[in-house]
Amino acid sequence: MNVSAATLVRGLEHGWERTDPATRVAEWTARLAELGAIDAEVAQAVDAYGGAIAGSPDAATLVLRFSAALGRERGDLTRALSELPQLPIEQRRIRGRALNLAKRLLEDLHEAMRVLHERAADSRGAIDVTLPGRRPWVGRRHLLLQIYDELLELFHGLGYSVYTSPEVEREEYNFTRLNFPPDHPARDAHDTYFVTESLLMRTHTSPGWVRAMEEMKPPLRLVFPGRVYRAEQIDASHMDQFHQIDGLFVGKNVSMADLKSTLNTFARALFGAKVRTRFIPIYFPFVEPGAQMDVSCAICDGEGRVSDGGTSRRCSVCKGSGWLEVLGSGMVHPNVFRAVGYDPEDYTGFAFGMGIERIAMLRHGVGEIRMFLENDLRFLNQF
Ligand code: DAH
Repeated sequence: MNVSAATLVRGLEHGWERTDPATRVAEWTARLAELGAIDAEVAQAVDAYGGAIAGSPDAATLVLRFSAALGRERGDLTRALSELPQLPIEQRRIRGRALNLAKRLLEDLHEAMRVLHERAADSRGAIDVTLPGRRPWVGRRHLLLQIYDELLELFHGLGYSVYTSPEVEREEYNFTRLNFPPDHPARDAHDTYFVTESLLMRTHTSPGWVRAMEEMKPPLRLVFPGRVYRAEQIDASHMDQFHQIDGLFVGKNVSMADLKSTLNTFARALFGAKVRTRFIPIYFPFVEPGAQMDVSCAICDGEGRVSDGGTSRRCSVCKGSGWLEVLGSGMVHPNVFRAVGYDPEDYTGFAFGMGIERIAMLRHGVGEIRMFLENDLRFLNQF
C-alpha cells in the first residue's frame, strides 16, 4: 500500500493565504531540500502546510492550520505516522524518517509564528476591558513589626530613644553585669545557646542596658527592641527565638511611682483606656524590687467569664483569672549601676521588659506562637 501525496494534504484548504516559511525559520530551505531528497511526497506536503502556517494572520488561525497538519486527532502527518506499520519495511524506514523531519520542521515554524503573534498582541497593547482586573499584590508589615512600630511610637512620645545591641552577646553582659551571680539558678531559667564559653545568643534584650550605660551618662531614657534566643522545647507557647523590648529610665530621684505611671500609660495605649493594671512582686536579679505587671483581660473585661448566648463559660485567654501577665519590671538593682560605673547613691532608675509575640497573642487571641515565624500568608494577611 502506498500513501499518496493527496492524503498528506487532505486538511489543507485552498483559500489559506501563503507566506514563504523561509522568512520565518532561517534554515527552512535547506531542511526542506534535505527532506525532499528522502521523500518527495512528504516534502511537498510540508511545503504546502508550511506556506499556510507561515501565512496565518493571527494566533487562532495558526492553531487551526497547524492542527490540520499535526493535530493529534485529525492532523494529516499524524495520521501518516500512525499508518506507518502498514507499510513494507523498506518504505516504512524512509517515510518514518521523513515524517519525523517534517514534524520537527513544522513545529519549529509553528513556534516561530506563535512568538510572532504573541509579540504583535503585546505591542498592540491589546487590553480586554471586559476581563476582571488584576489587583496588584501589596505587601504589609509583619504583625510583630506593626507592634514594634506602635510601641516605638508610643515610647518616642514619652521621650525614649532606641538602642540596639548584638544578638551574639558576651556572657558577661547577658548575665554577670546584670547581677546574675555565678552558678545562680536564675541563669538556668534562661536555657541558653552558647556560641563559645564566653559568647552566647542573648536570652533577653536587657544586656542592652549595660552597653548603653557603659557608653552614656545619665539621664537615660531608652528602649531596646530585638530578637532573643532560648534553647526551649518548642510548643504552642514556646519558640527558641522570639522578640522582646526592654525599657530603661535612669536619672536623679526616679521612683517606683514613675515606673507605675509610665507602665499604666503604656497599658492604656496598647489595650485601651478602660484597662486596669496590677503589680505583683517578682524576682529578677537585675531589679529590686521587681514587679510583674498584669492587665485586666481584654477579652472578658477582667470578669474571667464570657457570655455565650444565654450561658457563660470560662474565658480561654486569661484562663478564667481575669488577668493577663504582660511584662517584668522593677527598680534597677544597685549592683547593675556599680557594674557600669554609676554611683547608686546618685542615680536611681526603673526598667521593664516584655515579649512582643506575647503581646500579639494577647491582643489578637492567637493561641500559637509558631505562626509568627512560619510566614504563612493566610495567617499574616489577617493583620
Ligand atoms: N529580661 C527579663 C526576661 O527576659 C524580663 C525583664 C524583667 C526585663 C524585668 C526588665 C525588667 O527590664 O525590669 O525574662
